Amino acid sequence: MKTLRVALPSASYPIHIGANILDRELPTLVAESASELVVVVTNETVQRLYPDRIATALASLGLRVETVTVPDGERYKTLQSLATVYDRLMAVGANRKTAIVAFGGGVVGDMAGYAAATFMRGVPLIQVPTTLLAQVDSSVGGKTGVNHPLGKNAIGAFKQPQGVVIDLVFLATLPDRELRAGSFELIKHGLIGDDALFAYLEDHRERLATREEEFWEEAVYRSCRVKVGVVEADERERDVRAILNFGHSLAHLIETHTGYDAYLHGEAVGVGMLFAGYVSREWERLSADAYDRLRALLMPLAVQITLPPLSEQQFAELLMHDKKAAGGTLRFVLLRAVGEACIREKTAPGELWPLFQRFLAEFPGTLRISDGQ
Ligand SMILES: NC(=O)c1ccc[n+]([C@@H]2O[C@H](COP(=O)([O-])OP(=O)(O)OC[C@H]3O[C@@H](n4cnc5c(N)ncnc54)[C@H](O)[C@@H]3O)[C@@H](O)[C@H]2O)c1
Repeated sequence: MKTLRVALPSASYPIHIGANILDRELPTLVAESASELVVVVTNETVQRLYPDRIATALASLGLRVETVTVPDGERYKTLQSLATVYDRLMAVGANRKTAIVAFGGGVVGDMAGYAAATFMRGVPLIQVPTTLLAQVDSSVGGKTGVNHPLGKNAIGAFKQPQGVVIDLVFLATLPDRELRAGSFELIKHGLIGDDALFAYLEDHRERLATREEEFWEEAVYRSCRVKVGVVEADERERDVRAILNFGHSLAHLIETHTGYDAYLHGEAVGVGMLFAGYVSREWERLSADAYDRLRALLMPLAVQITLPPLSEQQFAELLMHDKKAAGGTLRFVLLRAVGEACIREKTAPGELWPLFQRFLAEFPGTLRISDGQ
């Protein structure tokens, strides 16, 4: 097992990473939170695969453990689902000392985290992420929230947990597609902050499709270390935390323009990173060698993405996340080298459009625009 410590002005807590560590590490964290009641927030899929897994892990503490199960899927990351969590918390007599355990992927983690941030103005939270994406990304850093029909993650709060237990055994049941989608965020952490992590992934690229715990322990540990470093430097995303959005401008466009259900977030980020690397070569003089490395690792994992017809005006609006900002600019994240990101403030979508056209022509097998037929 490996442990990272997050040290923020507001909170300090451990992230434990390893296989078969839940039964040992979860009770310790819950005992430290001095809770008498634990409420597990999970979803139907995780509940079916791992029934009462959290209660079993906590059995030695002799606490009351209740569970609230939400439906599975991003489309249920809503205020309505959250209301069922609050209802359950009230019904079981939860109070300010009740600890919430988020047991699931990023959707469950974000929702349970927001419930923990707001219920009784804040109760202890422990994250037990079960997807690769949640293990390397969403369970770390304290961002929580739900979607609004007009905006993804539009309602949210920062809520740092008491601790995170990343048990790699949960990857055993994760569908291959989800595993690959999570790999993109892991590769992103290498690209923006750790050349050695990127090199490690290059050296072990064939293991990205496996469930080998030794490989994942090292990769997830190094990936979390990058994210923790960025969050420690800028918890509230005032400046440098924005580098975590590498690849996300085009990913956001892809997700919004395809209605969120055609491709997984990580898949969109994979293509977004290829594009951001392409732009970096033009604008930041990312070396040919670095660009080739990025392309060689990402291309075999990338899925073919097809977008509906897209005008330059739509391109601009979707890139900026906000229709009202049309005519404005965005912060575009670029690479100077493998392991070193930078932010280009005030990037006009009009500057990116010609590069986007060239990118489409060069990577037709990765991203294409349908002719609308
Ligand atoms: N808070 C943050 O900083 C942050 C960062 C990145 C992403 N996110 C959010 O994370 C969410 C995406 O997370 P995700 O990719 O984990 O999606 P998800 O939570 O929808 O999980 C993906 C699928 O895997 C299933 N699943 C979970 N664990 C499993 C397991 N061990 N075995 C088999 N199936 C399992 C889920 O039920 C779901 O069907 C998005 O809502 C995104 O906004 C948040």
